[in-house]
Amino acid sequence: MSQAATPPIAPMALTLDVAGGRLSPEGPTLTRRMSDLEGLFEDAGAWRAARDAGDPVVYEVTSSPVPEVPRELPQSVTTIRPGACGGEFYMTKGHQHPDPQGEIYLGLAGSGGLLMFDGERTEWLDMAPGTVGYIPPGWAHRSVNTGDEPYRFLAVYPGSAGHDYGWVLEHGMGRRVRRAAQGGVSLAPFHR
Ligand SMILES: [Fe+2]
Repeated sequence: MSQAATPPIAPMALTLDVAGGRLSPEGPTLTRRMSDLEGLFEDAGAWRAARDAGDPVVYEVTSSPVPEVPRELPQSVTTIRPGACGGEFYMTKGHQHPDPQGEIYLGLAGSGGLLMFDGERTEWLDMAPGTVGYIPPGWAHRSVNTGDEPYRFLAVYPGSAGHDYGWVLEHGMGRRVRRAAQGGVSLAPFHR
């Protein structure tokens, strides 16, 4: 199966390949390249150079066949590659749920973080294998790979939550996440 199933969904078991970052049976998958992250990194020149020099894959998302429809509970596995653009770690686009509902992330591999922003307050959770990150309703969320290996996590979210990427383009995420000079993570204030 490679597409979303048609409701009503029958009970099913999914196999999670943690090392490979795959769900089986598998639903829709998507690949985000540097060109898909326009306007998100602070250093537009570095972003443009990366886009023009091979447009590297930044992250991939593979979903289960459970569709994004009301009352269903879809799942996806995201793998963010290691890297940085203008000093900012590779990250997801980030989104807000148009229908404010919560979401659960479970760290599977590598090391990363979960950046959340409600328009005023910013929260950062370090994520590692076994860490469960909770995103409350109303908090935009972005994942960041802060390590040297692929960072991978499982997401479980309400099927009617939706994805508003424009909210993040308009409001930012409160902080920019960079490698600190002494190692570790630097959370710099967001400036346009
Ligand atoms: Fe979400």
